[in-house]
Order: sequence, then structure tokens, then C-alpha cells
Amino acid sequence: MYNSKITGLGYYVPDNVVTNDDLSKIMDTNDEWIQERTGIKERRWVTSESGDTTSVMGIKAAKIAIERAGIDKDDIDFIVFATLSPDYYFPGPGVQVQKALGIKTVGAIDVRNQCSGFIYGLSVADQFIKTGMYKNILVIGSELHSKGLDKTTRGRGVSVIFGDGAGAAVLSRSEDSSKGILSTHLHSEGEHAEELALLAPGMGTRWVDDILKDNDPNDESYYPYMNGQYVFKNAVVRFSEVIMEGLGANNLTAQDIDMLIPHQANLRIAQFIQNKFKLDNSQVFNNIMKYGNTTAASIPIALTEAWEQGKIKEGDTVVLAAFGSGFTWGSAIIKW
Ligand code: UT7
Repeated sequence: MYNSKITGLGYYVPDNVVTNDDLSKIMDTNDEWIQERTGIKERRWVTSESGDTTSVMGIKAAKIAIERAGIDKDDIDFIVFATLSPDYYFPGPGVQVQKALGIKTVGAIDVRNQCSGFIYGLSVADQFIKTGMYKNILVIGSELHSKGLDKTTRGRGVSVIFGDGAGAAVLSRSEDSSKGILSTHLHSEGEHAEELALLAPGMGTRWVDDILKDNDPNDESYYPYMNGQYVFKNAVVRFSEVIMEGLGANNLTAQDIDMLIPHQANLRIAQFIQNKFKLDNSQVFNNIMKYGNTTAASIPIALTEAWEQGKIKEGDTVVLAAFGSGFTWGSAIIKW
């Protein structure tokens, strides 16, 4: 059996910064409420002129990750794309990446799984590499939320939280069994599927506001719904469980964590986990203050930034953990 190792990381976020004060001009909210409840100061939202879509942002992040992996695009033998906001209802963005990068006929799959999407994608890629089927897999998490949010006071409990962006990793075969992805742990509980969901048909190509103009303007099913407190309560429990599960599977304890990168759902959730595991600030990486919650993109963006800032060093034990809509949750334990 082989091992898989992250050999390249990249991310892309749109230039357009939207601050909490900007939001308070279009809905009844304020900087104090948003920062106190979520830690978020600003997020990136695409503009119509930018041309950024979920696949376009994913491609930009992927190019950086491939270059940093020191491989050629033709060395990629599989593509995994995680998103809840694909450009098209079908086909999914995996094949759009393939086309844009000019990678011939390798397989491409799309993973949903919302906030846990990147960890699910990483896990899929890890299995393919461990069994020897593929050598280099491109895993992308990309999300474009801003086109589908209810930016009126009615939607403020959800819309202030989410941001746009993309992150990517190249996972490569390694013969060194002491390093790389040690294990991944995936869960879901469909019983809570409607607690954080968008129950309308696939979006991603039109502004929902325009759709509603032609239909019933009061139809809220086109916007994401979230039972925030219910999600919060489940999140703190599942984050803790799945981190402990991952540590236990590798005979590790919380003291062994050099860097925890939690899905950036809410700074308060991350702080709860940090306190629970008695980690200091240098052991947890957060960037929700700058980007909001970018669902499937949040972990690869944060992982890339942490790595770029020199906060992850060779030999470190890195823990990734996510929880989100589905509910789905997961963790990955990595020896860097
Ligand atoms: O990434 C996927 C996983 N997602 C999560 O983990 C998110 C988990 N949930 C949360 O992070 C929190 O529940 C939220 C940040 C979404 C909301 O915080 P909360 O403390 O649960 O607030 P709430 O929904 O209970 O609302 C409290 C009050 C309400 O007013 P009343 O009824 O007390 O008068 C809301 O209407 O705050 C009001 N409110 C706002 N006020 C200003 C809700 N959103 C806003 C807003 N600005 N943006």
C-alpha cells in the first residue's frame, strides 16, 4: 500500500471585499452583531464583471497548486471537485477544470457534501492513491455563495456569514509511510438534512433575485435556510467527536496536534473546539475574519494560507475537521 502526501497547495479569492459596514447599508445588521456572533469582519463576493464562477475560481487555485507541486498538468491522473454551488446543474465543475487545464481523458468526479466537501474529496483521493490506482490527484474546493444569498433583512441570519473563494491541493503518491495522510473519517446524518439546506433546484448560473422577479418574490425556497442554533449545537459536538476519532485511530492525543485547521463556519465554534482540546493560538488557524464561511473552499484556503505563512512545518501533525449541511462531518489527520 502507498501513502498519499499533499505536494501542492493554492487558493484564490475574488478581489471584491465586502465589509460588515457594507452589509449594514443593504440590510438591518451591524458590524458589532456580526463580529460578536461569528468573528467575521469581511468576506469576498464576486462581481458580475469579474467573470469568476465556481469553476473559474477553482481553476485559478488549481493552477497554483499544480505549479507548487512541481508537476506538469499532464501528470494529474484524476480530478476531484467539491462544491455546493456548481456553475451548471450538470455537468459538474470537475470536467470544466479538465477542459480549462487541457488535461486529456483522466477521470473527474464532483463531490457535494457542502462544508465537509473538501475533506470528503481528500478522502476519496487518498483511497485512490493508497490502493495504487492513481499517482497525482487534484482536489479542489470552490464556492460561489454571493449570487444565491438573500441580501435583505429577511436573509441576514445566513447571508452575512458566507463568502466566495476556492482552494486546491495536489495529492501525490509517496512511499514514505511515516508521512502524508494518516487517516480520514467521514460521517453524515441525513435526519438533519433540512436544517441547513437550499431546497430549490440547482442554481449557480442566475442571480436568484432575477428568478424571483419573474416568479413569486416571497418564495424563500430559492435561498439557503439555516436553523443556526441547532446547527451550532450539533457542530460543536461533531467537530469534537470526529477530531477525537481521528486522533484515536492514530494513537495520538490532542497534545500531539501541531496545527488544527477547522472548517471556517464560525469563530466561536473554532474557539470552543480550541478550548475543549486545550490548544493555544499557535495550534489553531482561523481566517474567517477575512473570508467568512466559504464552505468547501474554507479548509483548502486556510491550509494554503497557514502553509504560506510558515505555520506548518515538516513533521507536524496537522488536523483538518469540518461539519456542515447534511449534516455531514469529517476529519483528516496528516503528518506533514
Ligand atoms: O458552515 C456550516 C455550518 N454552519 C454553522 O456551523 C453555523 C452555526 N450557527 C451559527 O454560527 C449561529 O447560529 C449564527 C451566527 C448563524 C447566528 O447566531 P445566533 O447567536 O444563533 O443568533 P440567532 O439566529 O439566534 O439570532 C439572534 C437575534 C435574532 O433577533 P431576536 O429574535 O433575538 O430579536 C435575529 O433576528 O439576532 C438577529 N439576527 C441578526 N441581527 C443583526 C440574525 N441575524 C442577524 C444579523 N444582524 N445578521
